Amino acid sequence: MKEHLREYLGIVERLGLRLVHAIDIHTHADHITALGDLRDATHCCTAMGERSKAECISRSVSEGETLHVDGFQLRAIYTPGHTDESFSFVLSPNAPEAVFTGDVLLIGGTGRTDF
Ligand SMILES: [Fe+2]
Repeated sequence: MKEHLREYLGIVERLGLRLVHAIDIHTHADHITALGDLRDATHCCTAMGERSKAECISRSVSEGETLHVDGFQLRAIYTPGHTDESFSFVLSPNAPEAVFTGDVLLIGGTGRTDF
């Protein structure tokens, strides 16, 4: 979220990392994306699912497309419900290790579906 930009940049700096990709799974009225600000501050690539209308995206990803980031693979899965634009990302899709869903899926529930 946009209001957390300084926190995000602080984490990257504390860990001694260089941000090369930033991905949002979705946006809506109360989650204003920080992607544009992150891109301006770090020159990273910004990505979201192809249904996003955000203007700060360097790369739109489609269902089943795989992002390659420094030896890691993230496969995009279209996961509507919480919002019509939501995508989730599976880490190491050939032998899945994790899935990043944001609030599309929560432990014991899902994010609201009325956005
Ligand atoms: Fe959300």
